[in-house]
Amino acid sequence: MEKYAIRGGSPLVGEVDIAGAKNAALPIISAAIMSNETVTLENLPDVNDVNVLLEAIQRIGAGVDRVDRHTVRINGAHIKGYSVDYESMKKIRASYYLLGALLGKYNRASVPMPGGCAIGSRPIDQHTKGFRALGVRIENESGYLVASCDQMFGAHIFMDVVSVGATINIMMAACRASGRTIIENAAKEPHVVDAANFLNSMGARIKGAGTDVIRIQGVQELHGCTYTIVPDMIEAGTYMMAAAATKGDIVLRNVIPKHLEAISAKLREIGCEVMEADDWVRVVASRRLSSTQVKTLPYPGFPTDMQPQMAAVLALANGTSIVKESIFESRFKYVDELARMGANIKVEGNAAMIIGVDRFHGAQVASPDLRAGAALVIAGLSAEGITVVDDIGYILRGYEDFDEKLRLLGAAIEKIHSEAELRKLELWMGV
Ligand code: UD1
Repeated sequence: MEKYAIRGGSPLVGEVDIAGAKNAALPIISAAIMSNETVTLENLPDVNDVNVLLEAIQRIGAGVDRVDRHTVRINGAHIKGYSVDYESMKKIRASYYLLGALLGKYNRASVPMPGGCAIGSRPIDQHTKGFRALGVRIENESGYLVASCDQMFGAHIFMDVVSVGATINIMMAACRASGRTIIENAAKEPHVVDAANFLNSMGARIKGAGTDVIRIQGVQELHGCTYTIVPDMIEAGTYMMAAAATKGDIVLRNVIPKHLEAISAKLREIGCEVMEADDWVRVVASRRLSSTQVKTLPYPGFPTDMQPQMAAVLALANGTSIVKESIFESRFKYVDELARMGANIKVEGNAAMIIGVDRFHGAQVASPDLRAGAALVIAGLSAEGITVVDDIGYILRGYEDFDEKLRLLGAAIEKIHSEAELRKLELWMGV
């Protein structure tokens, strides 16, 4: 398993280009198979989750043609199966988007039940509730969700929880239902809006994405288009936190500052300068930061996917901070790893009390999941000495060129594959 070795202590300074959003790319790739015409997707992030999903749609017969690293042409004219294999689901939960896409196109689909994951149990009852409301029969057959109907009919659906995945999945299927569907209490995340904009570019008739009521008028068919994926607000936010933790000065290019408002506001509150223009944001942290309170909420609240990175920053701030996680049930697994680096954090239920320390020291730590892994890298960048972050496979699922981009900002970070390489690196890093 690959690891990152980091010699911390240097402020990150410079400019970084933000990639397309993984969480927008996943539903959009799935929805692309709903047309029999070619769809060209631009600004696709080159990250493992995206590549695994591209392989999964290829396995059911979609044409996938990589034009360049960030552009792909997808053609769904020759889909030969409606069943997503267990291996794809095991590697990437978001292959559940193929349920909505295949149902929308063929009125049938079969997808392995996604299990829990590192951050909680993650039920999909809201997805199935929505599909059933559209007239779909869904059975659990030997661990597979098998869904079918003769024709979907538009329905008025009230979501019991605000769910990004369920909102997008139902929206995709409803595009081809007969009549009008209304989704109430819909998720408002930028990737919901991006998926809706993409479907509309294919000829769908979706209104209201970005508000909590989405209205969808079903259409007969979806056509090809060329579409550019929205910038990744979580990747951007992660670099913003890296600037804050290392007392750095970073300009993030190719971002939508509006999507980063909750993150920018928290950083300003604790003492960072955050400047922004049309498509860039600059974060400057020139002094020790102060404590605050953070509660994760659906968009436009503070994103749960930024909670571990924010906690890493607050663990070095002056004073005591409280971080409350209100979306996922076990998203504090990284706390024990941060403690190995000297952090003082106590978790009770869904809240973490963070007593800021003056500095972290390097240690050997392991990523419990994608965003927690990024938080450990941030901690390593600000620590004294060498930090080795293990299990970086999680991080590679969602961050394109993470170590390369950090090196361009002046970080001493290397990907290593063996203990021998680590020893060599320690010599090189002067330990
Ligand atoms: C997406 C993101 C993930 C992010 C999360 C919340 C992708 C691929 N992943 O995940 O990075 O952390 O949004 O912003 O886009 N829930 C139910 N029943 C359901 C569905 C969800 O109870 O049927 C609950 C979940 O357990 C959770 C909450 O609703 O407590 C929000 O989950 P949801 O928005 O669905 O997360 P995902 O779409 O899986």
